[in-house]
Amino acid sequence: MTDDVLLVHGGTPLEGEIHVRGAKNLVPKAMVAALLGSGPSRLRNVPDIRDVRVVRGLLQLHGVTVRSGDEPGELVLDPSHVESANVADIDAHAGSSRIPILFCGPLLHRLGHAFIPGLGGCDIGGRPIDFHFDVLRRFGAVIEKRPEGQYLEAPHRLRGTKIELPYPSVGATEQVLLTAVLADGVTELRNAAVEPEIVDLICVLQKMGAIIAMDTDRVIRITGVDALDGYTHRALPDRLESASWACAALATQGNVYVRGARQLEMMTFLNVFRKVGGAFEVDDDGIRFWHPGRPLNAIALETDVHPGFQTDWQQPLVVALTQASGLSIVHETVYESRLGFTSALNQMGAHIQVYRECLGGTPCRFGQRNFLHSAVVSGPTKLEGADLVIPDLRGGFSYLIAALAAQGTSQVHGIDLINRGYENFMHKLRALGAQVELPNSRAGVKQAAPVAG
Ligand code: EPU
Repeated sequence: MTDDVLLVHGGTPLEGEIHVRGAKNLVPKAMVAALLGSGPSRLRNVPDIRDVRVVRGLLQLHGVTVRSGDEPGELVLDPSHVESANVADIDAHAGSSRIPILFCGPLLHRLGHAFIPGLGGCDIGGRPIDFHFDVLRRFGAVIEKRPEGQYLEAPHRLRGTKIELPYPSVGATEQVLLTAVLADGVTELRNAAVEPEIVDLICVLQKMGAIIAMDTDRVIRITGVDALDGYTHRALPDRLESASWACAALATQGNVYVRGARQLEMMTFLNVFRKVGGAFEVDDDGIRFWHPGRPLNAIALETDVHPGFQTDWQQPLVVALTQASGLSIVHETVYESRLGFTSALNQMGAHIQVYRECLGGTPCRFGQRNFLHSAVVSGPTKLEGADLVIPDLRGGFSYLIAALAAQGTSQVHGIDLINRGYENFMHKLRALGAQVELPNSRAGVKQAAPVAG
């Protein structure tokens, strides 16, 4: 048994309050944006999660000084002395995260070249990076694949261009933004992703001096400028973590106040949560989520790019749907392999059947390609504790929810993966009254390192 096993004694409703800070899917990118500035940037509301630590390490390797600011969760990033990093040092970060791909544009602007190690991230599909490299070539980058990673050069200054993405990819849209802001001339991006984290990144870049217009129909126009300054910015709250705790409250018949959660970015989730039968109340500081004591309703659900139902909400919600009466239909249209986690739920007593067809919605990219990307969840089912191995970040949190909702004890292996995106989750679980133990920790309670900044 490895060190990162958690024993979860299920059957206790989660009750209490937790605090959610800045979004995992914005903060590391805003840190990369600091590379583009001529002066220091201040980023607030930074959670202490592994993705932040990886990007911090990579920035430091490139000569950016990163230190804690005056308030908890504040980072000050100074890119005054950006320099090339040793390839072996960069390579030590291979497989740790997907963010290194976003260093390409900023490093090409600052240094004229960049080296990108092999990427990590959750195993929820092929996760290719072809859009990223196509985009960078359009700006004038030359890319060479070598055994140790990808080398990029910009023999001439990068030039603004016209781009239409084959799919509104979050990462590729960010790649365009972070490259176009300092490129010569105007860049027009069509079929852009418009997730709230992207809009927040645009706010960061605008504070730095960028000129970025968001038009209707997923069109973004960026007018390149000669130089950018630092920024001061408070990261938007993590709507994905907030929804995870909401689903945990619902599945365990609990009542959780998520301080920091914001309605604006969660409207689509809140509609679905209400349709399932969950209750919530929004105030100025957060959102309270609870199970109202009535049976939950089965629903038809399709994940999609924003403003649709975010794919990262899908896995935690599916656990709650195992407690709903009737047949729920789930069609995952963003990632081709994000339903593998359901087999462990079945081992716990759930009835979930996965299908290759596009069920219940419009046909998606995966319908003809033999991927198990639709599910029918039949409920309500009693869940029993089991031995579980965490497959990916959101699937892992879903296993925690299932274990908390189940009768008996579960052993959840690989919980360290959850530190990638959920700050201090052990502390939060305990604050909500979860009966959890770390059998390999001498004190029985292992807390995460102190909060960044
Ligand atoms: N895609 C390509 N080629 C590319 C890039 C993407 O085919 O070059 C495809 C992907 O395979 C996928 C789809 O486009 O089928 C969408 O991928 P996208 O690029 O939008 O995802 P991402 O930028 O890699 C971010 C988040 C994910 C989140 C997605 C969708 C970060 C670090 N990750 O990934 O978050 O699910 O956008 O909103 O921001 C998570 O938080 O658990 C997580 C996986």
